[in-house]
Amino acid sequence: MTNPTTDAAKKDRVIIFDTTLRDGEQCPGASMTFEEKLEVAELLDNMGVDVIEAGFPIASVGDFESVSEIARRTKRAVVAGLARAIAGDIDRAGEAVRHAQRGRIHTFVSTSPIHLAHQMRKSEEEVLEIIAATVARARNLVEDVEWSAMDATRTPIEYLCRCVETAIKAGASTINLPDTVGYATPDEYRNMFQTIRERVPNADKAIFSVHCHDDLGLAVANSLAGVEGGARQIECTINGLGERAGNAALEEIVMAIKTRGDVLPYETGIETTMLTRASKLVSAVTSFPVQYNKAIVGRNAFAHESGIHQDGMLKNASTYEIMTPESVGVTKTSLVMGKHSGRHAFREKLKALGYNLGENALEDAFRRFKDLADRKKHVYDEDIEALVDEEILTAHDRVKLVSLSIIAGTRGPQRATMKLDVGGEIRTQEAEGNGPVDATFNAIKALVPHEATLELYQVHAVTEGTDAQAEVSVRLAMNGSSVTGRGADPDTLVASARAYLAALNKLLVRGERLHAHAAE
Ligand code: KIV
Ligand code: ZN
Repeated sequence: MTNPTTDAAKKDRVIIFDTTLRDGEQCPGASMTFEEKLEVAELLDNMGVDVIEAGFPIASVGDFESVSEIARRTKRAVVAGLARAIAGDIDRAGEAVRHAQRGRIHTFVSTSPIHLAHQMRKSEEEVLEIIAATVARARNLVEDVEWSAMDATRTPIEYLCRCVETAIKAGASTINLPDTVGYATPDEYRNMFQTIRERVPNADKAIFSVHCHDDLGLAVANSLAGVEGGARQIECTINGLGERAGNAALEEIVMAIKTRGDVLPYETGIETTMLTRASKLVSAVTSFPVQYNKAIVGRNAFAHESGIHQDGMLKNASTYEIMTPESVGVTKTSLVMGKHSGRHAFREKLKALGYNLGENALEDAFRRFKDLADRKKHVYDEDIEALVDEEILTAHDRVKLVSLSIIAGTRGPQRATMKLDVGGEIRTQEAEGNGPVDATFNAIKALVPHEATLELYQVHAVTEGTDAQAEVSVRLAMNGSSVTGRGADPDTLVASARAYLAALNKLLVRGERLHAHAAE
């Protein structure tokens, strides 16, 4: 069996290191539940990602548990846990990836003068000692150690060379040189890798890695330039999710390499037909919408609107299309079954859309599909995806919507009557509000009292037409952290209630976890 994490330099095979579950999840409001993280990790593994950075085990009990469980379940990919240059972090990361078939500790320390002076308050010599000690400690726990120089692109090259040499000597087999603040240009980033690889005497003992943030919109260009400079691992995230402006987008990097093999003579192990599914899943679990004109996975990425373009496309698709929609998993929007379709057809449809549901989840999704088909004339693939994503994500929810009726219109106050199932107990409430959405949310607050505040309320239509399903995103904040929930339904108010409850359920789970930990 070939091992891309060690053979990459020889074959120009580029290692794809996905950090959606770590750097991506650090993005405010993008936090995922335990189950959501497992689902994303499974998809990344099936899609051919080489390394999954599953989290930051010391950050919280929840992070530790999800990294451990992903480590246990992942079949092909290396599973990495992040650690600062602190003994406790490294030991915790080692414990979290202990059960992985292939586990990695990824430890980092800042190297730039700005970080050393203002954040670390350490001298260059002290940081070199820290690198040697922490990498060696990690190497005692696992064979596969990655070391990162945080803020590498603002670090003087002579000092960066000494840091890299020290890390490799201490046992790091991957050296990551991040553009932490998204400051570099492609030429600078390419040159940095070339120089380091020329000057560091033991550089041939490690694989070099790029990790770029998108503050100036250069993350993908910089990542590819770094590969031209000799790096053979790319750290990236689905949909470019990540701190501030985000990280380099995995789907853009992979498709640039695939489409421009003439100037980028590299290969990845990614099954590109799964990119759209991955994008939708990450968008669903984080409730971060994908920009319509986003490269590769935006809903307009393959839409040709102008007359000239449409004319060209009809004559020959290559006139305006540099890659096919099918190559990234976009299937033609097709009319799915109607209300007479049976379970078998529904199951086949789900398989074609990339879902693999257990019997109970399938039964629930089928019931909701029938209900939707009764209310909506045409049911499209996108409708099924919205419905199933919601079904998967809310399967374990403690608070569920049973029914909702609303009195709305020009004469207020608007009024909501809501029935909820709260852990098996049915509760009913009537509430007024300044508009029907406000009345709906007030009813939830009365039925399940909580302190959370609403940070975001967003609606968009899943497909076209006035009977389209509304997809609503709600972000709630409590005790300094925020979560997002999503709900879909042809009735915008029902979708709003579902989205609010999805977010509230996440907060409840988080609260229970913290409570359990405090009691330990
Ligand atoms: O951007 C960065 O420098 C990071 C490191 C922790 C690798 O995310
Ligand atoms: Zn980062």
